[in-house]
Amino acid sequence: MQFFLDTADIAEIEQAHAWGILDGVTTNPSLVAKTGRRFDDVKRDILALVKGPVSLEVTATDVAGMMEEARALAAEGSQVVVKIPLTQDGIAAVVQCRELGIKTNVTLCFSANQALLAAKAGATYISPFVGRLDDIGHNGMQLVQEILEVYENYGYETQVLAASLRHPLHVLEAARLGAHVGTMPYSTMQQLFKHPMTDLGLQRFLADWQKVPA
Ligand code: G3P
Repeated sequence: MQFFLDTADIAEIEQAHAWGILDGVTTNPSLVAKTGRRFDDVKRDILALVKGPVSLEVTATDVAGMMEEARALAAEGSQVVVKIPLTQDGIAAVVQCRELGIKTNVTLCFSANQALLAAKAGATYISPFVGRLDDIGHNGMQLVQEILEVYENYGYETQVLAASLRHPLHVLEAARLGAHVGTMPYSTMQQLFKHPMTDLGLQRFLADWQKVPA
């Protein structure tokens, strides 16, 4: 499973990068806004640091506008993946991106039929929003399972990027289902390391080590 960090915060990306287990980064307009920085500055810093896939989202809502942004973003680096919302114009833009060899991440996916459209359009990634479905009382992980099943039936190459993962159990469930990628906040990636028995066990080992004659 590939691990992407869902953030536009450079300090968080630097830390996860230092752990050596970071495969890529996903951003969205809300995450960029949270940094309080200009998009150009955020983008430049992320692309300088991350050599794996970096999703950068378009903000135009019509095909022509999305394509203008997609071309400009893709020109910034071979690792750029253009994030496009799952609308009629978005899907049409994904088809054009595929023809131009521009990688895409179709975002705001909340149904398996939407995911089917993205695969037919030739998207590189589909992003089902697990946590946001859970938020409204639906089973977000069931959507991941349905998409994997549909894609498997037809051999679609679009990768399932489980998004809006909010806690370690989301990551585990997505991994058990075989999602290709999980994107998560820094806090969730940090939590994956933690187990009280690990901390306790290490404390004991280190205490016992003090008793070993020099
Ligand atoms: O970047 C897309 C997605 O991961 C957002 O997550 O927590 O805002 O629903 P969240």
